[in-house]
Amino acid sequence: MVIVRAEKPEDSEDRLAIRSIQEAAFGRRHEADLVDGLRSEGVVLVSLVAELDARIVGHILFSRMSIETASGCLPAAALAPMAVLPSHQRRGIGARLIRRGLALLRRRGERIVIVLGHPDYYPRFGFSSEKARDLQSPFPPGAFMAMELEAGALDGIRGRVGYPAAFGL
Ligand SMILES: CC(C)(COP(=O)(O)OP(=O)(O)OC[C@H]1O[C@@H](n2cnc3c(N)ncnc32)[C@H](O)[C@@H]1OP(=O)(O)O)[C@@H](O)C(=O)NCCC(=O)NCCS
Repeated sequence: MVIVRAEKPEDSEDRLAIRSIQEAAFGRRHEADLVDGLRSEGVVLVSLVAELDARIVGHILFSRMSIETASGCLPAAALAPMAVLPSHQRRGIGARLIRRGLALLRRRGERIVIVLGHPDYYPRFGFSSEKARDLQSPFPPGAFMAMELEAGALDGIRGRVGYPAAFGL
């Protein structure tokens, strides 16, 4: 049975497992380094792991980002990075991580979530490139998506998105 739980703060076993899953899923160190960078910057909102038989097989992280509008800065949550061990993909583990993460953010009063990802995958959770159409970003429109955790949260919102420094954008 898959259990989704919060990453334990300052727990070296969790950190090592998260690093190895990110590296295995993406085939490079960049995303694992991004997780470390976001922790150091103190911008992690939610970091969840999926455990199967006491082994961590998936990880998702949401961090604090902003939308700079003409009338001020609006907080949003960035979904990135997310990874499931290649041997455990396509079993719904990624979906469990996303849904739990979104539920936690909603409960904490977050209103907007932004993701850069596969346009075939994220719309099933409520993300759309249409919702992100008035948000300026350095990314191509199709893969840059937003969702509202509260209906109408993006109504009339125009502006440039600001990512944590760890993203290096
Ligand atoms: C993306 C990822 C986290 C999804 O985790 P998962 O546990 O396999 O996802 P789920 O089982 O919930 O969903 C599976 C669905 O995801 C979609 N999907 C998974 N990987 C995909 C990919 N590389 N490209 C497009 N769609 C993908 C498929 O539509 C699949 O549905 P199907 O089984 O009906 O074909 C996982 O595939 C992964 O770690 N990939 C490598 C790292 C990555 O790309 N991270 C996300 C960056 S946006």
